[in-house]
Amino acid sequence: MKPVNVIFDTDPGIDDAMALLLLHALPSINVQAISTVFGNASIEDCTRNALYICERFSLPYPVYKGAGVTFSGLAETAYPDFVHGADGLGDVGFPVPTRRAEPQSSVDYMIETLRATSEPIEVLAVGRMTNLAEALKQAPDIAPLIDRIVMMGGAVAVPGNVTEWAEANIYGDPEAAAFVFDSGVPVLMVGLDATLEHRMKKTALMSLRNQLGDAGEFLWQIKQCYLKFYADKGIFDGFPIHDSTAALALVHPECFEIRPGRLVCETLGEQRGRTVLTPSEDGPHTVAMAADSERLTALFETAMQTTYSARSQ
Ligand code: RIB
Ligand code: CA
Repeated sequence: MKPVNVIFDTDPGIDDAMALLLLHALPSINVQAISTVFGNASIEDCTRNALYICERFSLPYPVYKGAGVTFSGLAETAYPDFVHGADGLGDVGFPVPTRRAEPQSSVDYMIETLRATSEPIEVLAVGRMTNLAEALKQAPDIAPLIDRIVMMGGAVAVPGNVTEWAEANIYGDPEAAAFVFDSGVPVLMVGLDATLEHRMKKTALMSLRNQLGDAGEFLWQIKQCYLKFYADKGIFDGFPIHDSTAALALVHPECFEIRPGRLVCETLGEQRGRTVLTPSEDGPHTVAMAADSERLTALFETAMQTTYSARSQ
């Protein structure tokens, strides 16, 4: 099977960093470029983190800097440093990379690339959907050129992780989510309904540290912050790896229970950021409602071991 061409739209971010290493390791995915967005940290920090990971692990992907404010122009007042550290990568103290972002903005890159290509392209969006909304607003003609958007975000039948209703990526820019849902582009939403069912145990992370060479050490170091966040909440039986779960959903739908329908995003009142699915067989959207954690863990570990253990020998 031909690998799927993917633009990775991301806010690295600890789980984003893991997802980037995973995408590189999945033979069924062909990453075209990385597009950054603010979210887990500022746009400067998220872009620097993407460049750092590419440089350290020799990932050959161009990095395009994206939005630093919401679709409606609002700046962030508080980044989630209690989950991702102040620098977005667990405050390990990594050096500044020498690699630089491409001169073009991520929105311009998406518009130009989608218009120019004859190959199908999917967008994997694991942060706020600000860049996608902006690109679709500036160039509505690209909507039929996007094969599909696979997104990590939202919650349908489970509570949110920022408010009772809203998940972080959607809560951070509900207007962007609403615009993308209305754009006519097919969307697979991989939200908390699925990602909270696919968890990684600390012991598995320790094994990866021993097996994956420098990648294992990197993941171990950045994840300490994340582990502390979950331990402080009394969660010791495994932490979610949200963005990696969404990456796997893109090429392994068989590991998920997927429901078709139409999604809307609430933008007003106390339910701001809530994603609501109206089920229907011919709806434009699909939602991963449950995940097979065991199969996903096996797929994750095989891909990572095949790619990164070989490198460290
Ligand atoms: O709610 C989890 C999501 O929010 C993940 O994508 C994480 O990286 C943060 O962006
Ligand atoms: Ca993310």
